[in-house]
Amino acid sequence: MTLLVYGASGYTGTLVAERAAERGLPLVVAGRRADEVVTLGRRLNVEHRVFSLDAPADVDRGMAGVTVVLNCAGPFVRTAQPLVSACLRARAHYLDVTGEIAVFEALFERDDEARAAGIMLLPGTGFDVVPSDCLAAHLHRRLPTATHLSLAFRAGGRMSRGTARTSIEGAGQGGRIRRDGALTRVPAGHRTIEVDFGRGPRKAIAIPWGDVFTAYVTTGIPNIEVYIAVPARVRVGLRLTRLLGPVLRAGPVQRLLKARLQAGPAGPTAEERRQGNSLLWGRARDPSGAVVVSRMETPEGYELTRLTAVASAERALAGEVRAGFQTPARAFGTDFVLGFPGVQREDLPLVSASKSA
Ligand SMILES: NC(=O)c1ccc[n+]([C@@H]2O[C@H](COP(=O)([O-])OP(=O)(O)OC[C@H]3O[C@@H](n4cnc5c(N)ncnc54)[C@H](OP(=O)(O)O)[C@@H]3O)[C@@H](O)[C@H]2O)c1
Repeated sequence: MTLLVYGASGYTGTLVAERAAERGLPLVVAGRRADEVVTLGRRLNVEHRVFSLDAPADVDRGMAGVTVVLNCAGPFVRTAQPLVSACLRARAHYLDVTGEIAVFEALFERDDEARAAGIMLLPGTGFDVVPSDCLAAHLHRRLPTATHLSLAFRAGGRMSRGTARTSIEGAGQGGRIRRDGALTRVPAGHRTIEVDFGRGPRKAIAIPWGDVFTAYVTTGIPNIEVYIAVPARVRVGLRLTRLLGPVLRAGPVQRLLKARLQAGPAGPTAEERRQGNSLLWGRARDPSGAVVVSRMETPEGYELTRLTAVASAERALAGEVRAGFQTPARAFGTDFVLGFPGVQREDLPLVSASKSA
């Protein structure tokens, strides 16, 4: 039984590798930067492997004897497929911490292959999408007739450099929602709603977050939108990307934005992770007009990510797997997220059609 953490020397990868070592898991740290991976392996006193994802033969060698891969190397649009292909060949389970819709979509396409190989594909084991996926499943459990689902979150604290890089790559691509079961393109920030996370109303704007893909797989609810609560200037900026789309997607602009990132810190400090928190809100409604709302509070996003990603890998190592493409709530249950310290869920009473009319 071996867990291989790929991208282990990145900001999130290091948090995850440290946690896996703390848990005493049979760990191998891996990545493409020899100096950083070797240093990390020595510090954690675990095996290290250096390989890039460019040539399948190198990936196969790096994967020798591995039972579970936890990929922390993002943007995942470039790293997920070569690792999944290697997992299929090696019959190892694949997990990652992506939040990218394109990655969920691409791995979902490989469901049949994964079932045939008897392996689990479980992307999204971090802040996106573990708490929101469990919240979606919980709302569906409360209102099984639901046809519309809205999810919103407020992430306390700042982004890591890698998350910002991934967002830059997605900038200018517009928004995505689920409409009648289909992934549908909409203009960036096409809608703003008012959300009460339990601390008074806040404005939240639509974003193409991973749950647009995964919550449908988990619940079957055909209409899904995801929102983020951010200050007015960020909402304006997001809407502006509609006009700037082609500019933002251009190579020189992408390079300039990414170069500016390099100067910033790798991610939140340990103190910021300890002190921060995140708030989630979800609402489901059915054709009769019945509405349920539930809310959740969790630790700061990267703090929760290191806990949920490693717990997911630990369960997979222990044989708690379902072959094929899975979401966190499908793999480990609707209440999976409640098992982590600092996570609380609150249900507002169901409002029936007559009351909401
Ligand atoms: N869903 C969630 O809740 C969640 C939570 C945390 C992080 N994330 C995502 O995780 C990713 C990593 O974030 P981070 O802050 O850890 O970033 P980071 O510090 O920049 O680390 C990224 C790591 O991935 C490696 N990598 C990137 N592209 C690669 C490729 N094509 N081949 C091999 N290795 C590659 C990097 O290696 P090099 O240094 O050689 O480039 C680096 O080791 C981001 O996409 C972020 O959005 C998601």
